[in-house]
Amino acid sequence: MKVIRSVSELRQYSIEQQSNGRVVGFVPTMGYLHEGHTSLITRASVECDVVITSLFVNPTQFAPHEDFDSYPRDFEHDYNLAKKADCDVLFVPSREEMYPYGESTSLSVGDLAYKIEGKFRPHFFDGVATVVAKLFNAALPNKAFFGQKDYQQSLVVKSLSRDMLMGVEIVVCPIVRETNGLAMSSRNKYLTDEQKDNAKILFKSLVATKEYIESGIRNRKKINAYLHDMLRRLDGLKIDYAIAADSNNLDEPNDFEEGSQVVLLIGAVLGKTRLIDNLLVKVPIEKFNEDDRFEEGL
Ligand code: PAJ
Repeated sequence: MKVIRSVSELRQYSIEQQSNGRVVGFVPTMGYLHEGHTSLITRASVECDVVITSLFVNPTQFAPHEDFDSYPRDFEHDYNLAKKADCDVLFVPSREEMYPYGESTSLSVGDLAYKIEGKFRPHFFDGVATVVAKLFNAALPNKAFFGQKDYQQSLVVKSLSRDMLMGVEIVVCPIVRETNGLAMSSRNKYLTDEQKDNAKILFKSLVATKEYIESGIRNRKKINAYLHDMLRRLDGLKIDYAIAADSNNLDEPNDFEEGSQVVLLIGAVLGKTRLIDNLLVKVPIEKFNEDDRFEEGL
């Protein structure tokens, strides 16, 4: 596995690969890799001929009060995991390489960036869109792989590629979880063992609410209340949001349509650690019951 630190060298590598007919896959990360990240690298290596993974803790997606300085970093650990997962190139740029002229040009994503997670982190999605556009310009990938773990981010990146005519195919991969259901995250390192155990309430609540929807409940307020009630069972969990939304555009209708797909989204703080998680649910189509015809006199 090659390590590349300069944008020009990475671009040259990607152009060379594509001129030889190879499909280039790209997995952007902020490092401190875990099985969630390596699942993306493995998927990319199955779907593409070469895989580039980037390690870059992007300063523009952190607010001043957030954990940019303390975000975990461990190059050797990342190198070994990426290599094991079949990565071909690890792109490890410096801040100067990615932002040589500071932040004079940036991207703004629109409505999608300021709702739900964006209400709590208003700078976040514009920062993500800006760095992902820069990383795409450096790696020039055919396909890029993102995790469903950051659901709203995956929608932002899809519209970025579509709206900016980037032509990069965005592949969204399933959430990898610990055995107790907790979604893997670099930030789980901040949790104590007791908090890690308690944090399983997020996935448990998502699964219970999925079953609630599958039992035929389509009213959004009822669904949100159910999800909140489940989460409130854990003392000390500060819920930023726990909501159901349309999985395509994050719209929040009064009632979800039969056959539509809902995403349940949670953002919450446990101790000092911010956790996010989500689950997709298909709203059932109520079967027409033959007996009802007679009862209604049809
Ligand atoms: P980071 O948090 O390092 O995540 C990198 C990628 O790994 C994202 O696409 C994320 O959704 C995915 N991922 C994280 N945990 C996962 C899990 N448990 N299962 C599946 N996939 C998981 O997301 C970022 O970095 C940054 O915002 C970035 C896109 C790199 C831009 O700076």
